[in-house]
Order: sequence, then C-alpha cells, then structure tokens
Amino acid sequence: MSPRKIIIDTDPGQDDAVAILLALASPELEVLGVTAVAGNVPLELTSLNARKVVELSGKTDVPVFAGCEKPLAHRLTTAEHVHGKTGLDGADLPEPQLALQERHAVDFIIDSLRAEAPGSVTLCPLGPLTNIATALRRAPDIAPKIAEIVLMGGAYFEVGNITPAAEFNIYVDPEAADIVFKSGVPLTVMSLDVTHKALVTRPRHAAFAALGNAAGQAVAGWVGFFERFDVAKYGSDGGPLHDPTTIAYLLDPTLFTGRHINVEIETGSPLTRGMTVADWWGVTDRAPNATFMGTIDAPGFFKLLTERLAALP
Ligand code: RIB
Ligand code: CA
Repeated sequence: MSPRKIIIDTDPGQDDAVAILLALASPELEVLGVTAVAGNVPLELTSLNARKVVELSGKTDVPVFAGCEKPLAHRLTTAEHVHGKTGLDGADLPEPQLALQERHAVDFIIDSLRAEAPGSVTLCPLGPLTNIATALRRAPDIAPKIAEIVLMGGAYFEVGNITPAAEFNIYVDPEAADIVFKSGVPLTVMSLDVTHKALVTRPRHAAFAALGNAAGQAVAGWVGFFERFDVAKYGSDGGPLHDPTTIAYLLDPTLFTGRHINVEIETGSPLTRGMTVADWWGVTDRAPNATFMGTIDAPGFFKLLTERLAALP
C-alpha cells in the first residue's frame, strides 16, 4: 500500500516537534511538506523551529514553508509561558542548514492539493488554523480535494487551557477555526479531552531518554521543559503530548475512540472566544461535522511513539 500523503501545518512548540518526528519516522506516511504558522511563538521562530526539527530527523528532502504571521481577525497570542522564549526550550538544536522554501505556505497547500490526486492528501494542523483557513478562502476549489483534516485543537469536558473556555489553537484564531469547521471537509479532532490522557509519566520520559539517539535526547529534553506548565496547573503526572496524537491516529486509528458530532466555534463573545461547542450528547439538531475523539489507549500510543523515535538518528 502506498504511503498516505500528508501536509503538517505547525507552530513548533515542543509537542509539535515530537509530532513531526513521529511522522518522519513512519514509512506509512509521505510528508509532502511542513508549513509553519504563528502560534506558540511568532512565525519567524516557528518556521526556524520546523527547519531544526526536520533536520534533526535526517529527512532533509522534506520542504519547510513559512505561512501566516497573524490570525485572521485578532492580534497574535503566543505561549512562551508554556514553550519558552524559543518555542523549543529544553533541547539546543544547531542552526539548520535546511533552507526555508521561498513559496508561501498557503500557496504550497493550494498548489499541492491541486496537483495531487483528489482525495489523496490529508492535512494535519497542529497549531492555529490560519494557514488552512486562508487556503480555503483563497481557493475554495481545494475543499473537495482534501481527504481529511486531522487536527489538534478544542476541548469539551476539559474546557480551556488558555482561557476558562478555550483551547489555545482555536482561541488564537477562532475565525479561522470557524472556516475550517464549516468547510465540509471530513474532520477528525484531537481535543484536550484526548491529549490530557496522553501524559508523559516518569517511565515514559525515561524511555525517551534511554533511546540513545539524538531524537530521543531532544524529545526527553523538550518534554522535561514543556511539562512544567501542565504539572503546575493541573497537578498532572507529566505533561500532555498534544500534537503527536494526530499522527498516531493516522498510523493506528484503533488507539482512539470518539463520536461523530456537531462542533461549532464561538467567535462573537470575548468571554468564550474560541470555545469549541461540541454537541457530545446530541441535544441539538445541528448536523455532525467532526469526529471528536474522547479516549486514547495511552500505553499503546507511547509504545508506538517510542518505537518510531528509536528509528531516527
Ligand atoms: O493547546 C495545545 C496546543 O496549543 C498544542 O498544539 C500546542 O503545541 C499549542 O499549539
Ligand atoms: Ca502546536
């Protein structure tokens, strides 16, 4: 079976970096490109970090593009309090030799979807949805060509992590999320309801560190830094690995369960801006538009992730 073609849209971010490594370590996937968006840190840093991570993987034939530097309608909100000043605190990677592509990320997304066979490309957004929404607005013809959008974002039972009501990726650009959730493209949503169950406990952290390769060392360092926020806030047993759950879903969907439900995005209220209003209990007649995941086989997820990271340099 030929590898599944994906584009990773990302705001690295330590957990984004782990997701990118997982994808590049998995022969079932063909990463057509990595597109950076402003989010955890400004675009200049997310695009630099994306280059560093792709270079760390050794797959330097994978192109990296810079995309939108600010949300559609709001000023940029970043998350240095979680990810550190560089966005990749916890491991020092060298300045990358891998160049940034000239083409804008949005143009790459549009061009790729128009060039590849319809229904053959999956988009994996791991940050604010600005690039994806901009592509859909600029080229509505690409919507039916997208096989699936598998994104990390939102929450229902876990409510918010950046405000009491909203998860960060959706909060940063709710207008973009609204465009994506109304696009009609098949959506699979890895929300905080799932990612908060994917905690890097001490044994799991030790398994990364024991891999003995550069990838394992970097991941152990990133996670060791990144977990501070969640451990302090939630008292959790380690930090949640949000973004790699999207890639793990592509590799083994049986690791997850969820419901096909209606999810709408709050864009009008300053109080609940970016809230994902998920009709988990089917109390409205709004049409289902997303497969909203609720559970994860965490031991299976970490087994898959650790095995794949072992295959990297
Ligand atoms: O809320 C978690 C999400 O926001 C993750 O994608 C993390 O990288 C940040 O982008
Ligand atoms: Ca992210």
